Amino acid sequence: MPAPALTLIDLLNGYRVTQALYVAARLGVADRLADGPQGSEELAHMTGAHPGALRRLLRALASFGVFAEEADGRFALTEVGALLRDNVPGSLRAGVIFYGDRRHWGAWAKLEQSVTSGETVWGPRAASAFFEMNTKDPEGAAIFNAAMTSFTSAFDAAVVAAYDFSRPATLIDVGGGHGALISSILRANPGLRGILFDIPPVIEGARTRIAAAGLADRLEAVAGDVFASVPSGGDAYLLKWIIHDWDDEHSLTILRNCHRAMKPDARLLLVERVVPERIDPSADTQSTLLADLNMLVLAGGHERTAAEYRTLLGAAGFALARILPATTRLGVIEATRA
Ligand SMILES: C[S@@+](CC[C@H](N)C(=O)[O-])C[C@H]1O[C@@H](n2cnc3c(N)ncnc32)[C@H](O)[C@@H]1O
Repeated sequence: MPAPALTLIDLLNGYRVTQALYVAARLGVADRLADGPQGSEELAHMTGAHPGALRRLLRALASFGVFAEEADGRFALTEVGALLRDNVPGSLRAGVIFYGDRRHWGAWAKLEQSVTSGETVWGPRAASAFFEMNTKDPEGAAIFNAAMTSFTSAFDAAVVAAYDFSRPATLIDVGGGHGALISSILRANPGLRGILFDIPPVIEGARTRIAAAGLADRLEAVAGDVFASVPSGGDAYLLKWIIHDWDDEHSLTILRNCHRAMKPDARLLLVERVVPERIDPSADTQSTLLADLNMLVLAGGHERTAAEYRTLLGAAGFALARILPATTRLGVIEATRA
């Protein structure tokens, strides 16, 4: 078969890989392999799966390097597969479950609708429709919030290393979810105090985590609506994966509310993917631009280029100072009040 045909057919398989990973994550296979290799019969017994079908799933994932098939036919964890374990540092299990869950998965099945209409699959109501899930669908909200915590935890050390958080006295994490990132920043900067700000049901879930992390004396959880106002008086305002959720009009409201609440010399820190000016076929750019499609389908927002961030920030009264690469897939965009 000609190489271009093979390339295209391999690309088509992406959705199958997603579901295979999702099922392995749901069944908790990786945790059953934590103490060493197991045969598919034992794994099926432990996970409630059909032995023959589970073996087929594991072999398929082994071909992608997620598990390894031993000479005796047992399956072992690889470094990649170990990230499917639950409750271990760096776990991406919750993120995998979010991608494969019927809500996210079902939304992507309607990509054509979004590309045709230019709207999210929920219609023209931008990200608010998606975030209303947090009040109407507790199971969906739990899956989403856990996914955010898991993806953010994969990046938090890089964000902590990329920016000097020892200078601000008070850091406000706007739309900070369950507080994974600000908790890591506070742990690395003992002199820093923080406010975690999000909608009421999310803040409800964050409080127990803050207490369990031993940060209750330095990290206050405040519930509110970013379109009404954000807590005032911070030295730095952190917005990770917030502006990309929204179209320019909603983004400007958020940014102007931050501008209004900030001390004159405070810093605004957007942690976002930055779309390159020219598209290359690297895995980093592919990841960024698939995230951009995800914003189209789910939230109505955009991933943006540096120039687009500069223009958007300027319209809200900010000057983009610099973009610090935290990883090849995530930048810290620092802005000051213009
Ligand atoms: C994509 S998540 C990012 C969460 C977190 N910053 C992270 O990177 O893990 C967007 C966050 O914005 C919050 N959010 C959505 N609408 C909001 C609103 N009107 N006011 C405050 N927070 C809101 C959501 O609840 C969610 O936690």
